[in-house]
Amino acid sequence: MSAVIRPSSGAEFARILSIAGYTPSRMVDNHEMTNYIETSDEWIQQRTGIIERRWVGEGEDLEQMSFAAGKLAIERSGIAAADIDAVIVATVSYFHQTPSLAAILAHKLGTNGAAAFDISAACAGFCYGVAQADALVRSGGARYVLVIGSEELSRMTNLNDRGTAFIFADGAGAAVIGPSETNGIGPVVWGSDGGQAGAIYQTADWPTAVENADWPYLGMNGRDVFKWATGFIAEAAKATLEAAGVSPEDLDAFIPHQANNRITDALLRSLKLPEHVVVARTIKTLGNNSAASVPMAMDAVLASGEARSGQTALIIGFGAGLVYAGQVVTLP
Ligand code: UT7
Repeated sequence: MSAVIRPSSGAEFARILSIAGYTPSRMVDNHEMTNYIETSDEWIQQRTGIIERRWVGEGEDLEQMSFAAGKLAIERSGIAAADIDAVIVATVSYFHQTPSLAAILAHKLGTNGAAAFDISAACAGFCYGVAQADALVRSGGARYVLVIGSEELSRMTNLNDRGTAFIFADGAGAAVIGPSETNGIGPVVWGSDGGQAGAIYQTADWPTAVENADWPYLGMNGRDVFKWATGFIAEAAKATLEAAGVSPEDLDAFIPHQANNRITDALLRSLKLPEHVVVARTIKTLGNNSAASVPMAMDAVLASGEARSGQTALIIGFGAGLVYAGQVVTLP
């Protein structure tokens, strides 16, 4: 007999209730980079916008950064940790296959046994997490969701690789997403192109790395990624605005993944964003910290007063996969 199964039902709308970032303590400027690779401060600034980046210092690591960002996001949300129903951690630099970092953090942060899982969507990871959290809140799978984007890419960066050493960085950002009276998260526009899996990749799988005593670093074909980001991602960003029914004039802030300032410039030209739109440029001082970049940049534009709670922002992440995801959101 086929029983009638009750469907799940949740809040009509969801929004980002709070945002928080954690900036690691070790500042690595471009001059230090010249100790590792043949480069110059001038070249790095001109090609990427990066002046300095942050790496983990004494007593810091991926779990500690994720915990700190997650704890602050929960405090800022005004929600008790015990009321968080799901914890999602987006990262590609957690060196334990299992258990998930999310399960460990759900426990340490004091949730009441929240559902927990990690996702691997590289620099799009935070936006993937926002999409899942939004769907969970509106479907009833969870009332409050903690989404953390965190990376310790310094551990995966080959300091002798001229194509990547200067770009990757560490950091963590987190958001609490929950029910709302009005809609605060637009439709996600996302996808993947595994045909370009070789554009950003881990240089060896674990068994091979162990056999050959060859550390698995991040490899990247920068030019291919640059082309994709300035062409395809520009179109995806336009589609994200259209899906939300929001015009460039309606936007207050643009918070793209902090991959490269020149990519951000190209996206701006393509989107034809008006002058008043605040554009996140945290790559200058934080470098490219993958899944952490969008939430850290959101936290930064709010903390600096450039953008305000209740304003409308376009967020978009893109990276290894290749994968991408974007949404229009109301700032917390
Ligand atoms: O977050 C995930 C997504 N990732 C991205 O979105 C990254 C996308 N790609 C990029 O941002 C850029 O491709 C890079 C910043 C990584 C590289 O910049 P580029 O302009 O694509 O450099 P290139 O590899 O085309 O090299 C241009 C020139 C070459 O010199 P010539 O042949 O023109 O004389 C290189 O030898 O720059 C030289 N070069 C460097 N010079 C100083 C390459 N790497 C360096 C370096 N320092 N580290």
